[in-house]
Amino acid sequence: MMTGRPGESSRDRVGQLRIWYPAVGSTMDVAADLARRGAPHGTVVRADVQTAGRGRQGRTWTAAPGSALLASWILRYSGGQEDVGALSPLVALAVARALNRMIPNAPIGIKWPNDVLIGGRKAAGVLLTSRATPAGMVVIAGTGINLQTEAICEGIVATSLSEWKATVPADQALDAVADSLGQVWCSFAERGSLKVEEVDEIESLLACRNEVVTLESGDGMLTGTLEGIAADGSLLLRTSATAAAVRIRTGEIVRGPRPTAPMSRDGCRILS
Ligand code: BTN
Repeated sequence: MMTGRPGESSRDRVGQLRIWYPAVGSTMDVAADLARRGAPHGTVVRADVQTAGRGRQGRTWTAAPGSALLASWILRYSGGQEDVGALSPLVALAVARALNRMIPNAPIGIKWPNDVLIGGRKAAGVLLTSRATPAGMVVIAGTGINLQTEAICEGIVATSLSEWKATVPADQALDAVADSLGQVWCSFAERGSLKVEEVDEIESLLACRNEVVTLESGDGMLTGTLEGIAADGSLLLRTSATAAAVRIRTGEIVRGPRPTAPMSRDGCRILS
């Protein structure tokens, strides 16, 4: 369990120390460097511009200056590496809750493991890295939220908050994510997995739930019905090969039930 000053929870400390840069290569690298130099749990690094922004699966992440919330959060965890997979959908849930506060009633969804959608289009992405140290795990959670349409590269199918009539300054978006990340972090730090209510909430937002999808995982391509998620963050896929649902810990949904759907910003098919 994280320790802090008496009466202070790890929730209170998420986003308490904020470091802003006009431009960096990637906030992931700046945060990792600060963490190595002892920056406390909850420190967040935000930049207006990234010249070498990264996405999942080795992709790049680009956004016009000031058009997106580009932030990386230093999260210190005393449990083991095996728990960190749960953070993928959990951080996505935190971002989804933050978006819901900024645009109430918008059709927000989560595409496993950690894309956040509005109206079926990607509005935010999460990138996680983790490193074991003698003092525990250091997780860097990168969150990129498209605030304005300029955040979206030409030819990419994605969405932004401004397309949903929300004008949200980056600082305000940061406040909302800090709050919801602090909320989910609190129980994760205690138990190392998702709470039942969090599993339920993620499943209620899950794109393609109960639909046939194709997943690219370490074991190759798998097709089956997307049933839900487990408390360790893995995806439950019912294939014809086994009676019980298969648990997928890492992977990517590459094809949904509508294979002719357009490509999203991360090169995946838009599934709904
Ligand atoms: C993805 O959907 O592929 C993940 C995108 C994560 C982008 C954010 S922006 C802030 C942080 N810095 C980076 O270089 N990447 C993450």
